Amino acid sequence: MINSAKNIFFLGKGGVGKSTSSALTALHLAEDGHKTLLVSMDPAHNQSDIFEKKLSEKFLKINENLSAKEVEISRWVNIYLEEMQSQVKRTYSYLTAFNLENYLDILKFSPGIEEYALLLAYQSIRNSAKNVDYIVFDMPPTALTLKFLTLPDVSLTWLENLLMLRNKIIEKKEIISRVKLGKKEIETDKIRNKLNKQIEDYKTIKAVFRDKSKTSLNLVMNTDKLSFSESQLIVDNLAKFNITISNLFLNKWHPGFDYSEIKNKYKDYGFQLFPESKTPLLGVPALADYLSRLDKFVML
Ligand SMILES: Nc1ncnc2c1ncn2[C@@H]1O[C@H](COP(=O)(O)OP(=O)(O)O)[C@@H](O)[C@H]1O
Ligand SMILES: [Mg+2]
Repeated sequence: MINSAKNIFFLGKGGVGKSTSSALTALHLAEDGHKTLLVSMDPAHNQSDIFEKKLSEKFLKINENLSAKEVEISRWVNIYLEEMQSQVKRTYSYLTAFNLENYLDILKFSPGIEEYALLLAYQSIRNSAKNVDYIVFDMPPTALTLKFLTLPDVSLTWLENLLMLRNKIIEKKEIISRVKLGKKEIETDKIRNKLNKQIEDYKTIKAVFRDKSKTSLNLVMNTDKLSFSESQLIVDNLAKFNITISNLFLNKWHPGFDYSEIKNKYKDYGFQLFPESKTPLLGVPALADYLSRLDKFVML
């Protein structure tokens, strides 16, 4: 079935083990018989090293149930800008003298562009994922991840205001022309229809991010103070948008460290303990061996 795959996002401070936890989780799901995709959204792209395979934008089969790929953000920035350019050209045909191409190179560095590119990549992955049970996303650093997750909300505020303005313009035009032949302008206006389509798309994504049966947000942290505070920052910022964490992954845990306080603080979330490995967690055999020694794996 199309679009029924569950999103499994991994977020947290750099170095806490997002990529390792994503890889272990994806392999765990695949071993359990679920069709799973692992997608690296982090430009640092650690999955190639973890799986000891050269990953690219094309899905590479890791085993019977698992395929992995790396999203190249710069490529999606270009796709996003080209789409925007052709839309502007189509809508404002009188702007032909205005050389849009010259602005594209500058726009690539414009604030906000990366999260739009990531959202576009996300939509494209979801739309093409057929017969998939889980999509595990290894996410970029905290700031970009937070912007990505809250982008639908922020965009909706803009779009809904734009739609109101457009409706007012059309109403004024109808009053002036007083021509009511066939369909009303309000139904045929291309810009208005485009805005409505975007609003629908963002509303869907927004709802999916908040639906615990469709999206699992997993926060990875270590036992040190810095990763504690960044985790709390993530929890607080998402709470402002009514987005809640599903599970806390305490990674690189070493015996002797008492985690009862952490577990108690985050008792509303599921809890997964990943002990520190003495040997490198690289390659499928090493990951599978590590998984086989875990007592339990949290419900995703
Ligand atoms: N449970 C673990 N035991 C031992 N080393 C780990 C564990 N998890 C991660 N590491 C190591 O810590 C480093 C950072 O992990 P990584 O998954 O790349 O973090 P992130 O993606 O959050 O930046 C890597 O060298 C990785 O091999
Ligand atoms: Mg990483």
